[in-house]
Amino acid sequence: MTQQPPTGTPGQPGRTDDAGRTNHPDRTTAAEADSPGRTTAGEADSLPDRVAITYGEADLSTVPAFAGGFINFGYWARLPDIADRPFTEADRVRSEQDLYRLVLGTFDRPQDRTALEVGCGRGLGCVLALQEFGLGKVIGLDAHPDQIARARRTHAALLSPPDGGNGTTSGNGPSTGPNAAPAPLDFIQGAAQRIPLPDAAIDCLYSVEAAQHFRDLSAFAREAARVLRPDGRLALTTFFARDHDAARALPELLPSYADGLDVPHVIDDVATALVTAGLRDVQVRAIGDAVWEPYDRYMAQQPELRDEWARRYLTAYKAGLLDYYVITATAPEPPAGETASETTAKTTDGTPSATPTAAASTAR
Ligand SMILES: C[S@@+](CC[C@H](N)C(=O)[O-])C[C@H]1O[C@@H](n2cnc3c(N)ncnc32)[C@H](O)[C@@H]1O
Repeated sequence: MTQQPPTGTPGQPGRTDDAGRTNHPDRTTAAEADSPGRTTAGEADSLPDRVAITYGEADLSTVPAFAGGFINFGYWARLPDIADRPFTEADRVRSEQDLYRLVLGTFDRPQDRTALEVGCGRGLGCVLALQEFGLGKVIGLDAHPDQIARARRTHAALLSPPDGGNGTTSGNGPSTGPNAAPAPLDFIQGAAQRIPLPDAAIDCLYSVEAAQHFRDLSAFAREAARVLRPDGRLALTTFFARDHDAARALPELLPSYADGLDVPHVIDDVATALVTAGLRDVQVRAIGDAVWEPYDRYMAQQPELRDEWARRYLTAYKAGLLDYYVITATAPEPPAGETASETTAKTTDGTPSATPTAAASTAR
């Protein structure tokens, strides 16, 4: 989710470059050094200042619009009887969990598979994926070191001990030592544009309300294609601009675009980036009806937020400027199989479409 965080001077370490990014020299990991990703280290290891502040000192998960440690607008269609009753905080948490359930539910037979969440925040969605979808291993990736630290603190009992274990069980944590089962959960710091994992390591790659922050969606698409195993699946959800005119208009209405927190990526361009990276069966589904109005209603019930910027997302939706989307895709064919030029984008009814642009348009 994209809240308007408190304004102020950047509080993150490092230098700010000409593009308004702050370098975080502590961000590179050993695994990252092995990554063959194509984005340069300088691009991948820096966050725009507004993003660094929002998920650093401002800690967006603690502001009143959120609950339960999640940071997303929520998917509200599965909540019972919401038409004529006020929302509770429990509803708000459920909406955020349900957005994860919607995305994770697109994976066919995820049991015992390895998943990667890109932009995992506090890692609550990773744990939901483990507990409710039976994944064998979930890796949470986030570009912000503070988010990774929070995720590790919050879910310490599910992580491997940093020293590799000594053959004992510590606290509520997993059994450790040479015969211990591998920890089912891991959090690693790194950027979507340069994922610090080897090729073909992941069965299910998902991302919840993070891609609006990615500066280079093409680089993310290439990285997703690279780390997915053959027949691996991608599922991504967040909000994007409906078209290029909307992308130009959004910064006038929503401060998060004007101040550089979000990028007004156009949905057709996002679908095109995935197809260009070699992903197949790219499908786009708009879910705005189940997001913006109930979210706005919840916000209207919060006295401290009633007339704030967050209410403008519904205005933008009703004006046709943005929507909330679920995008799914299949990993590229292995090199010996089908070539990239044979990849197809499909409408939601499965009909192959002529171009990725047509796929995104038809699905709305
Ligand atoms: C709105 S929060 C969503 C967190 C979580 N998915 C949820 O729904 O609660 C977006 C997250 O994306 C992370 N992020 C922003 N830019 C990123 C990038 N380029 N690569 C990876 N993570 C990024 C932020 O640090 C933040 O934790």
